[in-house]
Amino acid sequence: MKVLSVFLIYIFFLSFSFTTCFSQEVLKDKLTLMPWPKEIKANGTKIIIDSNFTISINKQGNRVHNASVKFLRKLANKTGVFIDTGFPLYNNKKATLILKFQKEVDLSLETDESYELIVKKDKIEIIALTDIGIIRGLSTLLQLVNSNSNEFFFEGFIIKDCPRFKWRGLMIDVSRHFQPIEVIKRNLEAMAFMKMNVFHWHLSDDQGFRLESKKYPKLHELASDDQYYTHEQIKDIVNYADKLGIRVIPEIDVPGHATAILTAYPEFGSKESYEYKIERFSGVFDPTLNPINPKVYTFLENLFAEVSSLFPDVYFHIGGDENEGKHWDDNIEIQLFKKKNGLKSNHDLQTYFNIKLEKILKKYGKKMVGWDEIMTANMPKSAIIHSWRGKNEGFENGTLAEAVEKGYKTILSNGYYIDRMQPVEEYYLIDPTAEVRFTSEKEKLILGGEATMWGELVTPLTIDSRIWPRTAAIAERFWSPKDIRDVNNLHKRLRKISLQLEDFGITHLKNKDVILRNMTKGQEINSLNVLTEIYEPLKIYSRNKGGTEYKTFSPFTLFADACTTDAKDARIFNKSVNEFLKKSSKKSKQRLLSLLEKWHYNYLAFSELKTNPLLKNIKPFYSNLNSISLVLIEFLKEENTLKKDYNAILNSLTKLKEPMEDTELMIVSSISDLVKHFYLNK
Ligand code: ACM
Repeated sequence: MKVLSVFLIYIFFLSFSFTTCFSQEVLKDKLTLMPWPKEIKANGTKIIIDSNFTISINKQGNRVHNASVKFLRKLANKTGVFIDTGFPLYNNKKATLILKFQKEVDLSLETDESYELIVKKDKIEIIALTDIGIIRGLSTLLQLVNSNSNEFFFEGFIIKDCPRFKWRGLMIDVSRHFQPIEVIKRNLEAMAFMKMNVFHWHLSDDQGFRLESKKYPKLHELASDDQYYTHEQIKDIVNYADKLGIRVIPEIDVPGHATAILTAYPEFGSKESYEYKIERFSGVFDPTLNPINPKVYTFLENLFAEVSSLFPDVYFHIGGDENEGKHWDDNIEIQLFKKKNGLKSNHDLQTYFNIKLEKILKKYGKKMVGWDEIMTANMPKSAIIHSWRGKNEGFENGTLAEAVEKGYKTILSNGYYIDRMQPVEEYYLIDPTAEVRFTSEKEKLILGGEATMWGELVTPLTIDSRIWPRTAAIAERFWSPKDIRDVNNLHKRLRKISLQLEDFGITHLKNKDVILRNMTKGQEINSLNVLTEIYEPLKIYSRNKGGTEYKTFSPFTLFADACTTDAKDARIFNKSVNEFLKKSSKKSKQRLLSLLEKWHYNYLAFSELKTNPLLKNIKPFYSNLNSISLVLIEFLKEENTLKKDYNAILNSLTKLKEPMEDTELMIVSSISDLVKHFYLNK
């Protein structure tokens, strides 16, 4: 009886501490998990990471073996612990980390990725139905590494987790700018860390065809600038991704976006005597495959058969976007064909083309995915509609809603165009199910979504900084429960996750210094770096209006390339101005002073640099920022001796609003508020 009552009291306190000390909100503040798991409870224990750390698995498994080895490498590097033997052990109950799964699976839309992770005081268990579940659990465990001054440890948690959506993708366009194998591999690693499971590889477009073709070798010989993936490299990537639990979907974009294909094989084009040349600009262009030429279908059948043999996944993306059909209009035979076959518009003709492609793909065991233009009457329901145009083009509820309404499976990219360089929260708050209310049966047709990294303005040097860390936030939207949407908490976790992405080889942070060193030609970079924390690249394609400023071989080592979205000091400054104007707190005043002084002193350092054409246009902006900073410092210190004329300040402010080297200053309106406060309230 006595034992029982002591036990009950123990249980009472345990559950008390569960709900009070470790509520979800507290945990979200305390832990850096991303994507946030479905269920998590602390159990008040911890397990120390020491040299005896070992992993046991219940059976052989290629992916689990691979993931365990990578896990140990990361754990040792993270903690500095000299792990002794580590791995592999089989069915060893004394191991520190026990991995138990029932089966290895072929990756598909239906792959079970759920797992349970239990960290106790003497061991850790990850239990899953499939080997993919184990991989997802290991990503979570790596994020639970914690430390105090003496040791590294895992805190005790019980996590039950599974994804909200089946399709959690990242598209990388390698046509506009080629991305070598190592870029793809490091991004696959980061995707797996964020539990993403689809790599959509945009392999062909107007600017290049990036795949070796043994059947049609002119494709890679004449239309890739010798920058393409061999069959061996493709197989290597597919295999690499598979080990990480990531499916690879190839995209061969047709019938539009086909300049590269037609550069190699002009005979498949729609316009006679047209000189097809790999496109160097960005935008939408006229070269289009000829849908009434039977040889085009033979070509596509052979090409798709070859591509299909390299990519085991059942889905195959045929693009299908942005075909304006101008070259179809210019071709009399095509016009006659349309008339004869009752095809009223070019879109009807494209449907005719798509339906033929769907049949070809079927022959090779593939199902079609296409951008939302492929959604027309007669398109079989086995096709996946990839929504990118949202509510544009007359789709009142958006193309995703339309696809669901019509009974198609669908994935969302509208809102996840990371190349638009918008702030992270704008992506994070978009939900694939938000467009309209569906029945739960219909909602199942929404498979998930994809972040899209279009390649017009990126090279291997900068692509990571355009993908990460914002894609981690999108990954959370696709994996975590719908109600995980606290933006402040996201920012807090994302700052730390961003650093952890470096452990996977992601270069988004370190390559900034490379760009800045190129700009200063080896002089100090700190004074320039300071500006990258308050300037951001121009957004929503205004950096490259009309696709005409930047071409394939334009430089991507400019100030705008060193800058990214969500500039850190700008966020702090804007928040502090807000707080200062509301309640004039000492803390916010101090923060403002330290930033304004930072800009002032770094301007002085910048002025001493030997200038060059990459730096010279920055100077007048920096000088303006410096003069305004000095005035504000004096006001904040209440020793306004400069007595700068209000109109002169307004003049400086107006100039600061103008774009500088394709970037914008993210603190102009806060500065303006401060200026008004000091001049007009006094
Ligand atoms: C697209 O952005 N043209 C799919």
